[in-house]
Amino acid sequence: MLSLTVRASKKYDVKIGSGLMENAGRLIRGVSGARKACVICDTTTRELFSDRVIGSLSGAGFDTHLLIFAPGEQTKSMSNYARILEYLAEKHFTRTDILVALGGGVIGDLTGFAAASFLRGINYVQMPTTLLSAVDSSVGGKTAVNLKAGKNLAGAFHQPAIVLFDTNSMDSLPEEQFKEGLAEIIKCGMIGDKDLFEYVAYKEAPRINDFVEMTAERAIMVKRDLVEADEYDIGPRKLLNYGHTMGHAIELCSGYEISHGRAVAMGMLAASKAAYRKGWSNEDCTIPLWQTLERYGIDPKCPFGAEELASAALKDKKRNGSTISLVIPLQIGEGAIMDIKVEELLEFFRLGLEG
Ligand SMILES: NC(=O)c1ccc[n+]([C@@H]2O[C@H](COP(=O)([O-])OP(=O)(O)OC[C@H]3O[C@@H](n4cnc5c(N)ncnc54)[C@H](O)[C@@H]3O)[C@@H](O)[C@H]2O)c1
Ligand SMILES: [Zn+2]
Repeated sequence: MLSLTVRASKKYDVKIGSGLMENAGRLIRGVSGARKACVICDTTTRELFSDRVIGSLSGAGFDTHLLIFAPGEQTKSMSNYARILEYLAEKHFTRTDILVALGGGVIGDLTGFAAASFLRGINYVQMPTTLLSAVDSSVGGKTAVNLKAGKNLAGAFHQPAIVLFDTNSMDSLPEEQFKEGLAEIIKCGMIGDKDLFEYVAYKEAPRINDFVEMTAERAIMVKRDLVEADEYDIGPRKLLNYGHTMGHAIELCSGYEISHGRAVAMGMLAASKAAYRKGWSNEDCTIPLWQTLERYGIDPKCPFGAEELASAALKDKKRNGSTISLVIPLQIGEGAIMDIKVEELLEFFRLGLEG
C-alpha cells in the first residue's frame, strides 16, 4: 500500500493499494470516532463494491447506512443533495458521524458537498472507484453539484478525512473510463512531473496494477503540492487547468458528446502548439504529447474551429474581467500560467489548431 499525506486546512492521508475496501472499516476508524457511517454510491458501485465496504465498516463497529443514486452526471443535482441532507437528519446523524463516498467523481462531489454543509460540516471519506476520481476529484477538497445554468456552480471547499483508492476497483472499469483518468495523469506529468510523463509515454508496466499505482501516486503528488500551495485556487493550483479552457469549450460545443478527458487532451495539445508558436515555451511539447495520447487511443483531433471555441470559452466561468488565465507547458514537466487579454484568446486558439 502506498500512502501520502496532504497538508491543507485539514491534514489527511491518501492510501493507494489493492484490498483497501476490505480494510476500509479499520482505516476509517483510525481517523474517526463516528458511531454512524453513511455509504453513498450509485447503482453500479453499489453492485460491485458496497457489500465489501459495508461489511468492513460494520466489522469496525460503525452503524452503517446506505444511500444509492442513479449513475451519471445528472445525479450531481440540488435535489439529490437535499435528499442526502434530509436522510441524514431523519436518521439523526450528528456532527461527529461520517459519510463515505464510494464511486466516481459524481458521487464524490455530491457526497463532499453534502458533508460540507450538513450541520455546518461533517467528515467524509473519499473512496474513488474510477481512475479520474482517484487522481483528480477525490483529492483537493473541491465539492459541487450542478445547477441548470451550468456544471459545478454550487459547491464548497471541504477536505476529506481520508482518501482510500482500492486499485482492485480498476478491474471492472470500462476502457473509455480508464482513458478519462489517463488524460488527467498525462496532464499532471506535463505541468509538474517529467518522470511521470516519460513513464506514461514510453514505459511498459509489467502489470496494469503496477501502472495504476505508480502513475496515480505521482499524479496525486503533483495535485497535492499545488493544493498545499494554493488550497482555494487563486494562484498556482490553476496549473491543473492545463487543457481545460479549450477543453470545456469543446465539451460545450459538442453538447457533452465529447468526453471530458478527450476534450482536455485536445485542449492540452492546442495550448502546447500555440505556446510554442508564440515563443513562450522552451521546447515543442506537441509531438511527444500527441504520440502519448495516441499510444493510449485518446484521439486528440479537434472537430471545432477556433471562432466557435473562443466564443464558448468566453462564456465559461473561468473568465476574470478583461483577462483570461491560460496554462501552457514551458517544457515537459513544467507548466506556467499566462494571463492574456480576452481579445487574444481567439488568436491563441487559432495558433493551437492550425496545421
Ligand atoms: N472535485 C473535483 O476536483 C473534480 C475534479 C475532476 C472531476 N470532477 C467531477 O467528477 C465527475 C466525473 O467523474 P467520473 O469520471 O469518475 O465519472 P462518474 O462518477 O460518473 O463515473 C463514471 C461511470 O463509471 C461507473 N463506475 C464507477 N466506478 C466503476 C468501476 N470501478 N467499475 C465500473 N464502473 C464504474 C459509474 O457508475 C459511472 O457510470 C464530474 O462530475 C466532474 O465534474 C470533480
Ligand atoms: Zn479535468
